Amino acid sequence: MSDIAVLVDSRGGNTRKVADAIASELGVALGDLNAPLPADAKVVFLGSGVYGGKPGDGMTKFIGNGDFTGRRVALFATSGGTAGAEKVLDTMAVALKEKGATVLGNFHCRGKFLFTNRGHPSPEDLENAKKFAREMRAQS
Ligand SMILES: Cc1cc2nc3c(=O)[nH]c(=O)nc-3n(C[C@H](O)[C@H](O)[C@H](O)COP(=O)(O)O)c2cc1C
Repeated sequence: MSDIAVLVDSRGGNTRKVADAIASELGVALGDLNAPLPADAKVVFLGSGVYGGKPGDGMTKFIGNGDFTGRRVALFATSGGTAGAEKVLDTMAVALKEKGATVLGNFHCRGKFLFTNRGHPSPEDLENAKKFAREMRAQS
C-alpha cells in the first residue's frame, strides 16, 4: 500500500481534474474524504475549490476531524481568482498545523467559473500540477 494519499473536495470538477493528475502522476487512487485517513498515509495531498473565500465544507470537516500528527501535507486549490486560492490555501495550512501536520507546499491554478477562466484547468495547468506532485514527493 502507498504511503501517499490524495483527497479532494470539488463541487464542480475543476479541482478534481487537478487531483486526478496528481494521483495518476504518483500512481495512487484518489482517497475518500468521508473515510478516516489511512494510518500509513504519511504524505497527504489535500485539494479544494474556493467557495466564498473558503475551502469546501467537506475539506474543512476532514481537516477538523483528522489527526495529522507526523504527517506531511501538500495543498492544492482551484479558484476564480488568485487571491481566493491564496486565502484558502492559508486557511487550510493554519488548520492543518494546529492538527500536527507539516505543510510541504502548495499549488493553485484557475478553474472555470461562470464565463471566466474558460478552459481551466488547462493541459498546462495539469502539467504544472504533476510537476508539483513530483516536487512534493521528492521533499517528503
Ligand atoms: C458557490 C461558488 C463560490 C465561489 N467563490 C469563489 C471565491 O470566493 N473566490 C474565488 O476565487 N473563486 C470562487 N469561486 C470559483 C471557484 O473557486 C472555481 O470555479 C473553482 O475552480 C471551483 O472548483 P471545483 O470545480 O473543484 O468545485 C466560486 C465558485 C462557486 C461555485
